[in-house]
Amino acid sequence: MAPTTRVFVMLGALLVAALAAPAAGHVTINPKKAATEGYMVFKMRLPHDCGDATIGTSNLTVTLPQGVIAVKQEQVAGWKAVHTMRKIDPPIQSGSRMYSETMDTATWVGFLPDGLYREFGLSLKMLPQKNGTIMYFKSSQDCHGGFPPRNWDMIPSPPGNMTRLLSPAPAVTLIEGYEA
Ligand SMILES: *[C@@H]1O[C@H](CO)[C@@H](O)[C@H](O)[C@H]1NC(C)=O
Ligand SMILES: *[C@@H]1O[C@H](CO)[C@@H](O)[C@H](O)[C@H]1NC(C)=O
Ligand SMILES: *[C@@H]1O[C@H](CO)[C@@H](O)[C@H](O)[C@H]1NC(C)=O
Repeated sequence: MAPTTRVFVMLGALLVAALAAPAAGHVTINPKKAATEGYMVFKMRLPHDCGDATIGTSNLTVTLPQGVIAVKQEQVAGWKAVHTMRKIDPPIQSGSRMYSETMDTATWVGFLPDGLYREFGLSLKMLPQKNGTIMYFKSSQDCHGGFPPRNWDMIPSPPGNMTRLLSPAPAVTLIEGYEA
């Protein structure tokens, strides 16, 4: 490779790294778009460091938004899945089933050293939502060794405010008839 080409490749790589860096450190949900109803599998992606590789993340807790039922956590090797439930009052019918409760929080407990990332899946059924609804999956990340937790729970205010948030809540936009 000619020296000038090498410099451009390096500059390009630096630029890509600089552009990718802010988003890469956040807890996100994928995909970020989905249909307004039906079964979905979302992956919570956790690439954010606690501050020291030996301390690392101890758990990730996701609070499920309104309007989702039949939630199941992915079994992630090396991690224990625990959850809490909340009541649905009055109960709602979906398909042939009545639902009087749904998952409130989903937590995976384990160890993720800094410098690595991990994905945690959620299988769920979305009750019909309005086109354009944004569902927020507020999350919190706890660290080993009493390091302070990080809450990924900030929501743009007013809706649509494009100012970048420090700890945005993972968000999915629901679009009628959307197919990945
Ligand atoms: C749903 O919302 C999207 C984005 O706002 C818009 O492009 C689309 O036309 C809407 N679809 C329907 C069926 O209203
Ligand atoms: C998550 O981690 C924090 C801090 O390590 C701990 O206090 C909390 O009990 C853990 N949550 C669960 C559900 O294990
Ligand atoms: C948009 O969000 C930023 C950051 O949270 C906030 O400082 C700003 O006041 C918001 N804009 C409006 C118009 O409320």
